[in-house]
Amino acid sequence: MPEEPEIDWDALRAAATDAMRRSYSPYSNFPVGAAAIADDGRVVKGANIENASYGVTLCAECSLISDLIMSGGGRLVAFTCVDGDGGVLMPCGRCRQLLYEHSAAGMLLETVSGVKTIDEVLPDAFGPRQLEEYAGR
Ligand code: THU
Repeated sequence: MPEEPEIDWDALRAAATDAMRRSYSPYSNFPVGAAAIADDGRVVKGANIENASYGVTLCAECSLISDLIMSGGGRLVAFTCVDGDGGVLMPCGRCRQLLYEHSAAGMLLETVSGVKTIDEVLPDAFGPRQLEEYAGR
């Protein structure tokens, strides 16, 4: 087993809380902030951005992935997400899939039940490998 990287979860949660304060959530009044560490050590962040057409809403994880890609790409090694009180929030199902696509192997998430890996929060995930395997038959 490779050793788990040493993550300063308090600092990462503080970054997520800072991002949460930029949330645009006039419809739900439920601000969300997310922060993650990329494999080159930089911190990327996002907040939820709602829309009058409710279904068009972007979750905090969506804007975090945009930040990841637009600031140079790479893979996520650690992630946390907070609600309007700064408390740890679980990423919704869709966002677990979004995070999976850009995760480093063994990516860690701070969850409501402790630190877990991406494989624990999205078991037997569908991902790029399934598409590659199918294409390579
Ligand atoms: N939300 C997120 O930003 N991320 C999640 O993982 C859960 C839900 C947002 C979407 C919406 O703006 C608000 O929380 C209420 O659902």
